[in-house]
This record gives sequence, C-alpha cells and structure tokens, in this order.
Amino acid sequence: MDSIRIVGGRELNGVIPISGAKNAALPLMIASVMTDDTLTLDNVPHLADVEQLLRLLGNQGVDYSVNGRRERQGQGYSRTIHFTARNIVDTTAPYELVSKMRASFWVIGPLLARMGRARVSLPGGCAIGTRPVDLFIDGLQALGAEIEIDSGYVDARAPKGLVGARFVFPKVSVGATHTLMMAAVFAKGETVLVNAAMEPEVVNLAQCLNAMGAKISGAGTPEIRIDGVTGLSGARFTVLPDRIETGTYAMAVAMAGGDVVLEGAEANLLQNVLDVLTTAGAEISTVENGLRIKRNGNGILPVDVTTEPFPGFPTDLQAQLMALMTMANGRSHITETIFENRFMHVQELARLGAHISLSGQTATIDGVSRLKGAPVMATDLRASASLVIAGLAAEGETTVNRVYHLDRGFEKLEEKLSLCGAHVERISA
Ligand code: EPZ
Repeated sequence: MDSIRIVGGRELNGVIPISGAKNAALPLMIASVMTDDTLTLDNVPHLADVEQLLRLLGNQGVDYSVNGRRERQGQGYSRTIHFTARNIVDTTAPYELVSKMRASFWVIGPLLARMGRARVSLPGGCAIGTRPVDLFIDGLQALGAEIEIDSGYVDARAPKGLVGARFVFPKVSVGATHTLMMAAVFAKGETVLVNAAMEPEVVNLAQCLNAMGAKISGAGTPEIRIDGVTGLSGARFTVLPDRIETGTYAMAVAMAGGDVVLEGAEANLLQNVLDVLTTAGAEISTVENGLRIKRNGNGILPVDVTTEPFPGFPTDLQAQLMALMTMANGRSHITETIFENRFMHVQELARLGAHISLSGQTATIDGVSRLKGAPVMATDLRASASLVIAGLAAEGETTVNRVYHLDRGFEKLEEKLSLCGAHVERISA
C-alpha cells in the first residue's frame, strides 16, 4: 500500500490549481442516467471515487468516453467525460459496486424516475458514522414510490411514474436532496422540497439538470421547486471548483506559512471558512485567477467552530482545521454536528505531539509550539488530509499511510504541494 512521506518545516509558495469538485462531479455523473442523449462534463477530477462511479454507471449501461489528455488548463488537472445512457441495461445496482462508496446509492433517484424501477444495495456503514438512508426512502415514498427493503437492497417501484409532492426534510441531507431533486424531474406536477440542502454542489446539479431541460427553481435556498417534465436532453456542463480542496490547501498555507494562489478557487463557495482562517491570522484576498492566501511570521490564533450544513463551516474541513489549531497560540474548540464519529484524526494528531481532548462531540485543542513528525494513518479521506497538513508543519519526517483515502478525493496532492516547495513524495509499496 502506498504512503506519503513528508519532511516538514518548509513554507508553501507558488500556485496550486484547484480541481473540479468531487462532490459535485459525482451527482452530475449520476444525472447522465436521466437522458438517452450525451451529457458532457468538463472539469471532472481524476479521483478514485470518480473511477468507482464510472464502474457503477457502466454496469447500469451508461457508455462513457474520457478525454485522455491530462494537461494543465488553468483549471487544475481535471478531465472532460462524455456520458451516454442510451440503453439502461440493468436497474439493479449491486452490493459489490454500491458498498464501496455511499454516493453510488444516489442512482436510485434517476433509475426510478426514468425506468420506474430501481433496486439498489444499501450502502452499508461507514467509518465516519452510521449514515442511514431513511430520508431517501421517506422522500421517494412521498413521490409515490413503493419501497421494500429486501436482502440488503432497497427495491423501489413506480410503474406508473412518480407524482409531485411536498416533502419536508426532517434533517438536512446533501445526498437525499440530490436524489429527490433528480427523482422529481420526471414526477407529474410540482414537487416542493423543504429544508433542502443549500450546498453549492446542489446548485451545480440543479443548473445542469436545467441545462438538460428540467424546471428547477430555488436550489441554493431551503425550498426547491421542481415542475415535472417528460424528458431531458443532453448538455455540456462544467463541474464547479472544489471548495473542500480549496479550504484544505488554504489551511496548509495558514499552518506551514507562505504565500500561495489557489488557482480557480471561488471565495463565495467557502466564505465561512475564509472568515475563520482570517480570524486565525491568515491573509486572504481575491485575485484575478483565484484566491491568494498568506501567512508570514505571525502566529496562528485560536478559533471556536461548529460544523453545520452550508453556508456554515463544513464537516469536510473539520479535521483540517483541527490540524491547524494544534499549533495555535491558545485553546480552540471544534464541535462536530454532522457525523457522530468524525474524530479519528485526533489520536493520530496526538502522535505528532498535539494536545487534544474530546468530550462528546466537542474537541478542545490546546495549541503547542511545535509538532514532531511520526508515522500516522487515517481511516477517512479528510482525516488523512489533516495529517498531511500537520506533517507539513511538523519538524522532521511524517509518513501518512493508507494513501488510498487521499486518492479518493485529492487529485495529485503530492504534485500540487511539491510545486509549492513542500517536501512531499509518494512511496509505492
Ligand atoms: C455529503 O454526504 C458529502 N458526500 C460528504 O462528503 C459530506 O461530509 C456530507 O454531504 C455533509 O456535508 C458527497 O457529496 C459525495 P448527508 P452525504 O446526507 O450526502 C444523516 C467527503 O469527505 N442522514 O448530508 O452522505 C447523515 O447520517 C464526504 O467528501 C440521515 O440521518 O451526507 C448525517 O448525519 C464524506 N438519513 C447527516 O444526515 C439519511 O437518509 C448529513 O448527511 C441521510 C442522511
């Protein structure tokens, strides 16, 4: 298994191109199931999760072709992929493919909407929490689907099609919002989704579906309205820049020091995070080609942060912020409200010398003046990123094991950091 070796203590200086967002690309790819025309997506990041979803879509009958050139185009390293779902050959999404990545479950929406039937494996547990699918089931039933759970599969049927309805999410869910929005595109009449997720990735998906002929309004607010249509056509659409990748590199600079332009990054996708980083002592400005982040000399100031659905501070940057706070001048508090078990990085950060104590869902971090490199390992993607950030600021050598987690969500991480002067290399096992 590959690992990443970091020799810490170097500032980051230069340009880091921000890739297309993983969490936008995945639902956009799934939307290709809704038309027999070609959906072309630009700026799709080259990530293990994208490859995994390509395998699932291929299994359902989606043909795809990837623009093979991987040149730098000022938009990171991302690619163009053409998807054509002329014939859906299978409405069952099997356990072997769905269990590897939770977002695979979202195909249930488009398959049911287009084919009147979808049998999709339950995604199963996940290291960061239990992550149930009750909201998906309740929402699809509200649209008239008949649902049975049988042998680990969710079997959804709507032989006469779905029917528009008002559905109030009891809890904000990104995935259930994506899925119900797609399912409602072909429902008869109007659907209103209340307490919907407002994440930029939801807006991106609604824009793409509208470009394909859907009638969706209100995405980005808590109330999304969908007027049913009878078919969608193809379109060409660009995946938005990755706000989590942007925030991760911004925190790396805030921690290691230096001056970096995050090329293609957009401030409005993570304003809350930028405000927190400014409070912590980083200087952030919008420049022509992205965002510039600097921290020269001054120490890191402590912050108190609680994770929330968008526009609040994202859970996907909680671990990275904690890494930064391990070297703050004082005590910080970070409270995780989205996932109940997203603190696996705490023990590993402690191996580098961090002082963190946990009480329920709140971590108290007492900043230390130095971290010291060590071998570490993480069990999820964002936790792994936090260890890389800490390793960049730690004295000596840090080896981050289980790199496949990073490969799920960070395109060419070691290359991007090396280009800014970091000493980071991949060691192939
Ligand atoms: C999306 O996951 C993201 N994944 C996650 O990013 C992100 O952490 C999460 O949203 C929250 O922002 C993708 O976009 C591919 P949710 P999702 O449904 O949609 C509970 C990363 O690192 N819930 O918004 O699966 C759930 O357990 C990943 O890139 C129910 O209770 O998250 C959680 O507590 C990890 N019942 C909360 O809602 C349901 O039916 C929010 O989860 C569905 C969810």
